[in-house]
Amino acid sequence: MDTSGPHTVADISLANAGENRVVWARSRMPALAALRAATESEKPLEGHRIAGCLHVTKETAVLIETLRAAGAEVSWSGCNPLSTQDDVAAWLAREGYGVHAWYGQTTEEFYQCIDRTLDFGPTLTLDDGADLIYRIHSSFPELAGGITGGTEETTTGVHRLRTMAEAGELLYPVIAVNDAATKWDFDNVHGTGQSTLDGIIRATSVLLAGKDFVVAGYGHCGKGLAARARGMGANVIVTEVEPLAALRAVMDGFRVMKMDEAASLGDIFCTATGMKDVIVGRHFELMKDGAIVCNTGHYDCEISISELEERSTGYLTIRENNEAFQMEDGRTIHLLARGRLVNLAAAEGHPSEVMDMSFANQFLALCRLASEGSNYDNRVYDISPEQDSKLAALKLETAGINIDELTPEQTAYHSDFSAGT
Ligand code: ADE
Repeated sequence: MDTSGPHTVADISLANAGENRVVWARSRMPALAALRAATESEKPLEGHRIAGCLHVTKETAVLIETLRAAGAEVSWSGCNPLSTQDDVAAWLAREGYGVHAWYGQTTEEFYQCIDRTLDFGPTLTLDDGADLIYRIHSSFPELAGGITGGTEETTTGVHRLRTMAEAGELLYPVIAVNDAATKWDFDNVHGTGQSTLDGIIRATSVLLAGKDFVVAGYGHCGKGLAARARGMGANVIVTEVEPLAALRAVMDGFRVMKMDEAASLGDIFCTATGMKDVIVGRHFELMKDGAIVCNTGHYDCEISISELEERSTGYLTIRENNEAFQMEDGRTIHLLARGRLVNLAAAEGHPSEVMDMSFANQFLALCRLASEGSNYDNRVYDISPEQDSKLAALKLETAGINIDELTPEQTAYHSDFSAGT
């Protein structure tokens, strides 16, 4: 471990490799670059200390340097024990950021790292999963008074924060970055869809064509994953608990059934629900020999690993992020990435092109909190439709794509309710 500066990273000598990755990501994140260029001189985040708890990846590094360019001091930890890209963390450390993260942390180390990011008394927080903000509320509530606001990146975290707000326990305002259309229609659908398959393939090299691929959950992430698995030739089965989501999956042409039924049919299982105990002991008992099981939801509670362990005589690590559990009856079940999000643990997370929009939203939300947050109530705020629209326009512009504009006559028609047949 390297602690030679205000950082804790695995190996600072990886910094050059990390730099190459960051250069690559930067070149694919033009919306964030445009926001950086537009704000670098006025420094809207000047005087702010931002504590972030979000996967330490090459894309996150680009966000972090953008926050610094806008005037903020930044301190960072990863939001998952198995998602930090150690070379990127090393580069951030070499650049003088207070980064505390490495791949393969224990739960205790994970929280120690979060706590280190709080040492400088943050004025803004940025979360992916709400662990940082919950840590402040539960262990360091005295810090909340100095915090103008926070942002939250993911569905699971927004759900947690809305529940805290409803219980009257939220100590400062939060912006739900996840709920922006320019976040979830792209990052959750296209990002999770592609990177989850990337993680499964890196951990197994399995052929998807012709396989029965079970997707648990048909929210934005499950939807993106199901579409891409089908695109690779898999026969996709969806399991759901929400009637509307299940009906969408049916109309999108997928087989929909209970996990109890899918368990004996699937070759590959991936959970994307945000709920615990989606695949449990009785499902492992029904699975085929060689079945592959993984999760792409935020927390590692979707697959009951303890119930898999109870039914097996042991496991063999056959390659990185792929453990073969020997079942008592002779079958083998492969668990990927210990049930943690397979797209970040076994691959590199979402591609830079979609993180560009998610992180442009993060950047704009933090600037909004810096200028207006002290007038906000302690509740969860949404990204405005105007921000969504502006960001979509910026993303198109940076891609060199032009779209039509309404003529004055069309604009008038739009608001003319007398026009009909
Ligand atoms: N979440 C999913 N993919 C990510 C990435 N590439 N960087 C940061 N957070 C992510």
